[in-house]
Formats: sequence, C-alpha cells, structure tokens
Amino acid sequence: MSLLGDKIIDWYKDNKRDLPWRNTKNPYKIWISEIILQQTRVVQGYDYYCRFIERFPDYQTLAEADEDEVMRYWQGLGYYSRARNLHEAARSIVKKGAFPDTYPEVRKLKGVGDYTAAAICSFAYDMPCAVVDGNVYRVISRWMGVEDPIDTSAGKKIFAALADELLDKERPALYNQAIMDFGALQCVPSSPACMFCPLSDSCVALQKGLVEELPRKAHKTKVSNRYFHYFYVHAGIYTYIYKRGAGDIWHNLYEFPLIETETELDEHQVLQCQEFVDLFGTCEVIHVRLVAKGIKHVLSHRIIYADCYEITIPETASIGNTYQRVLVDDLHKFPVSRLTSRFFSLILEQNT
Ligand code: ADE
Repeated sequence: MSLLGDKIIDWYKDNKRDLPWRNTKNPYKIWISEIILQQTRVVQGYDYYCRFIERFPDYQTLAEADEDEVMRYWQGLGYYSRARNLHEAARSIVKKGAFPDTYPEVRKLKGVGDYTAAAICSFAYDMPCAVVDGNVYRVISRWMGVEDPIDTSAGKKIFAALADELLDKERPALYNQAIMDFGALQCVPSSPACMFCPLSDSCVALQKGLVEELPRKAHKTKVSNRYFHYFYVHAGIYTYIYKRGAGDIWHNLYEFPLIETETELDEHQVLQCQEFVDLFGTCEVIHVRLVAKGIKHVLSHRIIYADCYEITIPETASIGNTYQRVLVDDLHKFPVSRLTSRFFSLILEQNT
C-alpha cells in the first residue's frame, strides 16, 4: 500500500464513473473496451463499445464476422488498424481455443501493447500489473515531481519502474482504475483544480510550481498539411469508390476517387491537373459542382483539408477499373472514414 494508492482509491470511491466495462471480469469485453479507449475518450467510446459488444458478444462471433462489417462498427472512431487487429486477434484466439490468461500471452495479441496487456490482466485476472497511460504519466510526474521526458525510452523505463512501485498489489484492478480516472477527471492536463485535490499536501509539482509543465516531452509532434480533392462521380444512379490499400490509417476503408496534393489547389487547378485528366480524360464531363470546400480533418500527425466535387458523367461512361462502380443508394453499406461519411451526408442532403 502507498500513500498515493490510499488517497486515490478513496477519491475514486466518491468520484468514479459508472462504465459498462467496469462491471465485468470478462477478458474479451475488457479487451474490446481497452482497444476502443486507446485513442478515444470515454464519452466518445461509450456508445461504440455498447454497439460493438451487442453485435459481437464474444471472440467467436467477432472471428466469424466479415471484415467490412467489423469496420462499419468502427466507423467514425479513427485509428482503424485497431479494428483490423481486433478481428485478426479474435481469429487467432479461436485457433488457440481460449482467451489467453497469462501476461505474455495477452501481450502477444495483435494490437495489444504493454499498457493494454496490463489493463486486461489486472482488470480481468487481478494480476499485479501497473498500467501506464497518459493519465498515469501525468499523475506520477506531477505528484513525485519527475522531470524526465515521457517520450524517450530512458524516461519510459523510469516511469514504468515508478508505476510498479506505486501499484497497490493487493488491489491492482481497483488501483489501476482509480489512477486512470484520477488523471482523467482531477489531475487534468491543463488548469487542474489543485485546491480541491486530495494529493495537494504531498504533490511536488504543486510545491515547485511545475503543474502546467509536467509531464515533460523531449520531442514535439510535427504536423504537416495535406490537401485532398475527392470526386463524387455522378453517373446516373451509379458512383465510383475504391478500398484504400495497406500502409495507411484508412486501410480497407472505402472512399471516392481522390487526388492528394501538398499545396492548396483551387477548382480551376484541380480540373487542369494531370491526375484529373487521367481519371476523366476518356469520358465526357457534363457538369462540375463543388460539394464541399476545405473541410478540416485533424489527425495526430497531419491536418487534411478536403474538397469534394460532384463530377457528372453519362450513366454509361466508365472511369476505369481501379474503381468499383456502385449504386449511390448502396453507399451506406461500405465502411468509410468520418471525413468520407461527411461527404455522403452532404450529397444526400443536397440531393433531397
Ligand atoms: N481509459 C483507458 N482505459 C480506461 C478504463 N478502463 N476506464 C476509463 N478510462 C479508460
């Protein structure tokens, strides 16, 4: 037991959020919740978790499902490799015959890192594994005044060792939930309410005036701008889409034909560029209409500014076999990114 553990567990008893994955010891459900919560806030992930568990209540059901359907249940959550990995891992669990029940075996599941393995093993099996996520880095760095950066391997080792030391080994599940909620609700990144904090007497960062400075990072994330120009091809009752290939965040999601550029282009420049001629050069373009301009889509390492043009061509024309010709009325059946789903909605609104 530690001073930190006692205080945050007391705090947690009064402040905890009632969340569906906290009322279960089922490792499958805990795994799903932790994968959803890896890069998603609780308020956003809550409904996704409920829908996902209702449709895929166990790993067997998930393993048997079609990948497009799994992706549809993930649609809008971002970081789609999580869904692909879950699906692949569910199939590997079926092959083995049971959900893994040791830390090394859980850690081997595709998409499961140190944090998620510790969360599953402590919550489902009460193993003494300390979770270290962004919340935990913040609480420990501030309370102990640790100024080592959290994004270097040396820094990570220091924090992992401290987290292990501080873990309440008698109550690992309770302690881990408590420290995560404490970081999410009380010890928040900016302007935390330190005067109401149960740790204020012993918090080193508060005493040294370092609360806003900690945790420290050695590197700044570099964000680049990209410009995407999408084409909603209007060919009577048909349009064209394609499935994005391997190697990027939208892998296996569908979208309209697209030209990507590193600089901003206006409509005239888009229609003149070589890729546009390659796409539509062999068919008659009857009409061009701007559906949306400069929609900003923020990802962790890049900001996308996306335009969408409606390009009307004859129903009998074709834009080449890289693209799938589909009924406009069937678009909702394909898993797409949040950005593409915004275009679907705009097109639907503008055409009704
Ligand atoms: N973030 C990551 N895992 C969580 C959990 N189990 N409860 C609340 N927030 C979380």
